[in-house]
Amino acid sequence: MGRSIGVLSLKGGVGKTSSVIALGYAFSELGKKVLLVDANFSAPNLGLHLNVLDPDHTLHSVLESSSNLSDAIYPLGQLDLLPASIFGRRDLNYFKLRDKIKPLKRKYDVILLDSSPALNEETFAVMKASDELLIVTTPDLPTLGITLKAVRLVKRVGIPVAGLILNKVHKKDFELSLEEIEEVVEVPVMAVIPHDVRVLKSLSEFSSPFEKASSKLKEEYMKLAAMLVGHKYESPKFKRMLSRFFRPQKQEINRTVYYERVFK
Ligand SMILES: Nc1ncnc2c1ncn2[C@@H]1O[C@H](COP(=O)(O)OP(=O)(O)OP(=O)(O)O)[C@@H](O)[C@H]1O
Ligand SMILES: [Mg+2]
Repeated sequence: MGRSIGVLSLKGGVGKTSSVIALGYAFSELGKKVLLVDANFSAPNLGLHLNVLDPDHTLHSVLESSSNLSDAIYPLGQLDLLPASIFGRRDLNYFKLRDKIKPLKRKYDVILLDSSPALNEETFAVMKASDELLIVTTPDLPTLGITLKAVRLVKRVGIPVAGLILNKVHKKDFELSLEEIEEVVEVPVMAVIPHDVRVLKSLSEFSSPFEKASSKLKEEYMKLAAMLVGHKYESPKFKRMLSRFFRPQKQEINRTVYYERVFK
């Protein structure tokens, strides 16, 4: 039975959609059957990232019962996509998402739900449709406040949070550190993703940020994906040898703790 993982943040532009795509490719590299769902109902763009520009059947038409679910799922090689309509109706019952997703867990190992940053029904519908959530944040003060708000909200709704994805990290002194973020939010950071202009470039080329970006970015998403499905990710041999001379990074320790707690 597969699992639905919602990728959430109440702040726009932090990298939810990019993370959904990169994680989707990472899961498929691990041999998992993956479905990406655009549940950003009011401003969907997951399809645009992946060159599915004007689909006839979408999550909107599925929720309004004018399309079959199977017609709205588009195969994209390694993974499948359930896109949404940019000009879709606004008066839909978004909470039907959970029931629509449920039977798909028999077909897919992982269903990744991209969400809107809006604090409204569409975001609550994603929470309710998710078995587990990842919250995306960036290392700056305004985002930290919004991330804390999101975490408190999710805890009240009662959906487990797997952890934070700390995205767009420049490694500058003025940025908030992983430790500062964890201290405030009280949720472990499970991946630290560098800011990488190749992510922006891949967007302009309709390709996955996962394929085009740095090996550091790719490896971090691979490690996160591996943690979530209970794989032990092995770094390349030279990196494993080098790592003996350095203390493990905090996100590395967090991933090991998660792995031990969930899969051992
Ligand atoms: N690690 C990164 N390095 C550089 N640019 C990035 C990174 N992650 C995302 N971006 C860029 O930041 C912008 C916003 O990313 P994305 O659309 O994934 O955010 P989002 O949280 O889904 O936004 P929204 O709230 O509008 O849905 C995009 O132009 C994307 O290419
Ligand atoms: Mg988005």
